[in-house]
Amino acid sequence: MVKRLLFFCVTLLMGVSLSSAATTDSGVRVPFKQAVGMGKFKQNCAQCHGEWARGTEQGPPLIHNYYKPSHHGDDAFYRAAMSGVKAHHWRFGDMPPVEGIKKRDVTRIISFVRWLQQANNLY
Ligand code: HEC
Repeated sequence: MVKRLLFFCVTLLMGVSLSSAATTDSGVRVPFKQAVGMGKFKQNCAQCHGEWARGTEQGPPLIHNYYKPSHHGDDAFYRAAMSGVKAHHWRFGDMPPVEGIKKRDVTRIISFVRWLQQANNLY
């Protein structure tokens, strides 16, 4: 009984922390269904591409015309994450493959990044 109650509390807390997750740097609320992708992005990509994909000194912004769906399709994201990218658009150097990333994580990340691009009027 106590265990079940504990489990319930933990689940509730996780739910609350995910759903009240975040608003982006431009003040848009992140939808619940993008919460997992956002977490995976923060964990695996944000150190170079920035928390809201605005870029850092280690990597370019993904909120950028280059990376909208019509220019870099989802395949480019799978390829980048699983196999890395040779530097070609920028001067940050190569992007190494993201160690241990799974295809289904990338699927979530793509969904989040596409949502974020749209929230920034990039189609
Ligand atoms: C160690 C730093 C680093 C990490 C971590 C990183 N990237 Fe990159 N990424 C880069 C750099 C640098 C480039 C730019 C390469 C160039 O010059 O075009 C890049 C380019 C890309 C591109 C463009 C690919 C192309 O075909 O031009 C995509 C898409 C991308 N990254 C997605 C991701 C995703 C998704 C993650 C997390 C799963 C991630 N990156 C993690 C550094 C990083």
